[in-house]
Parts: sequence; C-alpha cells; structure tokens
Amino acid sequence: MTKSFEILKRDVAGRIGKLSTPHGTVETPTVMPVINPNIQLVDPFKMKEMGAEILITNSYIIYRKEKLATKALNDGLHSLIGFDGPIMTDSGSFQLSVYGEVEVDNREIIEFQERIGSDIIVPLDIPTPPDVLKEQAEKELGITVDRLEEARKVLSKTNRLVAGPIQGSTYTDLRSEAATQATKIGFDVYPIGAVVPLMESYRYADLVDVIVSSKMGMNPNYPVHLFGAGHPMMFSLAVALGCDLFDSAAYALYAKDGRYITINGTYHLTNLKYLPCSCPICQNHTVEELKNDNDSTKLLAEHNLYVTFEEIRTIKQAIHEGNLLELVEMRCRSHPRLLDGLKRLYSYSSWLEQYDPVSKSTFFYCGPDSATRPEVLRYSTRLNRFNIVGKTLIRNPGLNLKTSGYDNIFDFKPPFGPYPTELSEVYPFNTELSENYDYEALTSALKNTLKIIENNPESEFTFVKTEDMSHPILEQIEDLACIIDYTDKRK
Ligand code: GUN
Ligand code: ZN
Repeated sequence: MTKSFEILKRDVAGRIGKLSTPHGTVETPTVMPVINPNIQLVDPFKMKEMGAEILITNSYIIYRKEKLATKALNDGLHSLIGFDGPIMTDSGSFQLSVYGEVEVDNREIIEFQERIGSDIIVPLDIPTPPDVLKEQAEKELGITVDRLEEARKVLSKTNRLVAGPIQGSTYTDLRSEAATQATKIGFDVYPIGAVVPLMESYRYADLVDVIVSSKMGMNPNYPVHLFGAGHPMMFSLAVALGCDLFDSAAYALYAKDGRYITINGTYHLTNLKYLPCSCPICQNHTVEELKNDNDSTKLLAEHNLYVTFEEIRTIKQAIHEGNLLELVEMRCRSHPRLLDGLKRLYSYSSWLEQYDPVSKSTFFYCGPDSATRPEVLRYSTRLNRFNIVGKTLIRNPGLNLKTSGYDNIFDFKPPFGPYPTELSEVYPFNTELSENYDYEALTSALKNTLKIIENNPESEFTFVKTEDMSHPILEQIEDLACIIDYTDKRK
C-alpha cells in the first residue's frame, strides 16, 4: 500500500524519502504550503522557486463554491490552482473542527476529490481535540475508522494516493490503536490529526507523545504527515520522530497578522528594527518598507515561506550528515516549552535507538539532555557484551600515563564512560564535548564504569580519578577498583 514511499537516508527516526504521486515525485521531509482557492497570496510558481514541491488545498472550499467547483470539475484541480506538480486536498474536516458540522458526507467529498484530480485524497475524519473525555475520543475514532474503510472501498480502483488520518485526542493508547487500524485498512500516507490545538498552546511534550504513540502503532517506515504543523521552529523535532510531511497555512495567516517568522520564533513587524534574514524580500526591503508597502502581506508571506523552506533544507542536510539530533537540540532551545518537547523525545530514546543508525558523523555533546541520547542508552545496554580478563586500566586519554603492565586499556570519556582505546576514533566514542563537562555526562559515564567493573569480576581494574570527578558513584568504584588519584599529581 505504501509502494509510493521509498526511504533514502535515515537519522534518528527521521529520514529523507521519496513520495511518488501522479503529478511527480516529492522529496521528504517537506512542507506543503496551504493554498486558499479563493485568494492566492503567493503565486504557486513562485512557491516552486522557493522550494515547494507539493501544495495542499481544501476540497471542501472548492466543492461549496459553484464557480470553483465547476472549473475544478471541467478543467481539473491543477488548472484551477495553476500548479502542475502534486496537490493534496483536505476534506473539510478542518471546518468540521472549527464549526462543528459540514454540509457534505464522506463518500461525496472523497468522490469529489477523485473527480477533480487530487494527488492525495483525504477522507472526512473527525478531528477530536485534546483532553476530551475518553468516551468521546473513542466514539469519534470509531466513526473516523468507519469512514477510512468507506474511503478505501470507494477508491478501490484509484491511481491517486489516499491518506488515512490518525485521531484519538491525547490518549496515547487510542493513537496507537488508530494507527494500527488505519494501516490494516491500508493507505499511502498517514496524517496525524487534531494536533493544531497542542501546537497553538505550545504543548510540545504532549505533541511528542501523540507522534510517538501513533508511530508505535504502525510500521515506522510508512510516510507520516503532521496535520496543520507550519511553524519551522518545530520541524526538526517532528522529523526526528519520523514525520515526513507538514502543511503550512502559518506563512499566510501570520503574514495577514503582520508577523515575521524566524527559526527561533515570530516577531510582529512593529517590534522589528532590523531584518535578520537574507532572503530576497529582506535583502530588497527595509523594515519600514515591509510595514508600509501596499503588498506588505504578500511580501511578508513570501519571506515566511523562504524561512520555512530554508529550514527544510537545513534538516535534510542534517539527516544527510547524521547530525539531526544536534540540530534538534539547538532548535529546542528557542522556547522553554520546546525544550520540554526535547526532553520528552529523549524519554523515548529506547524506541528511537532501534531506528537510529549505528554509525554517523561526530557526536556533539550539547548539554545535559545529550546524556540521554539514544546512542548513550545503546552503549549502556551493550556493556554486557564485554568479556574482560587480566589487568585493565581505565584512564583519561588526555593524560600521559604509563600503560605498560596492563592487558586492556580503556579510555574514559563522558557521557559514555570507558571504551576500548582502539575505538577512540569510532562513532560514537569520537564525541566532541566541552572540557568542563556537566554532572549528567559524568553520572552516565561513572554508572557505565561501575557496570563494566561489576560485570567482569575476573579482571583487576585500575581507575584514574581526575580532579573534575566529584560524584557519589565514585565511592562505589573506589570499593571495587585500584585508584590512581590524579588530583594530587597536578598539585
Ligand atoms: N487540518 C488540521 N488538522 C486536521 C485533521 O485532524 N484532519 C484533517 N482532515 N485536516 C486537518
Ligand atoms: Zn526574509
């Protein structure tokens, strides 16, 4: 069913992929600018120049307006929008979530999307908001699943892609169940729905729970769309968890409100004295011009899109190099609630570890959260693979210590702790970290040291203690190993 998606490169649970549609192939992760069929703020061809490979529009808005519907039915959706690349259509579920009801049923809007030539068709799912009673979430999920089944039947012969939205409110068990049911029916893309309220209120930790529980219910290689996610500051976090598609109405909604997107958050134009961006709009205008130009909204929308696509390229390059987590750690420092999202992501390190490549570029220790990265967890669970006999020295590789008389030399580097010196150039032991490493890194390193010593009673361990090691675990190590106290030698 997901024959249309091919994964080219991985990092964490993120990936660079290829999604094939009737109007061409799209490289993911990517963001689909939302097009309002009534008013086009930015020309779709201009969007293509900026980096847009696929657009999304709302089939319900077209369906409802006779003039638009007639043109779409006669000339096709691509002619109506003025874009020859892939176009995804939403179903009216968004209107359902805002107004409570829509004047169309599931079958009708699905058939309409197919007739106008949509590349990715979305059934009329029910976007259940966060925090509702579980009975409501279950009941609405039941209706959504029935509609997904109907969609699959109605579209049994289509050559279009069909999306199977995942609902379940903030209940992680329902999200997993929804994902399992949707993948059983079989779709080409799996959008995670009703997360806009979480993002609007900066509930990034809850958003991480929703994404991970949805992914856990499905084959993680299937393509996932995070519905309504348009602010580039959270893209890398979502990509690291395995989201491939985003859609942005934010670029236009923010522009209408005079808001200027940056990767670290949004400014109102009235608060901007300088333009920090180098896109063509910002190069060719002053703040005053942006504020007062007749086309101010359009210019701002274009800037917002430039920044959005710049971040997509930054993320793809990070996946290519294998340093996506370093990027996520930087991005999540732009808002305390995003930092909560990062911490929640690392609470799933044992899940992420299964998908994270075993070898990539240098591991940069970016602060205490890095001590809980999947690579660190992986090492601590693999320590029991060592079978050490004879005399073993665990030393700081930066010190010029005599190594004769030892059968095994282990280098000690936080957050990993001891590893065989032969592996010092090998990922992840080639870690770069500040000389003034933090308590969390030391804790993880000393825990691993203790584990290695306890696991190998046949070996006689000598541990080199340096002055930067003040930690309760050290006392336990001192009970089991000979200690070379390097703190005295420096005096
Ligand atoms: N747009 C934003 N959220 C949703 C959702 O949950 N479902 C659909 N169909 N569209 C959306
Ligand atoms: Zn700009």
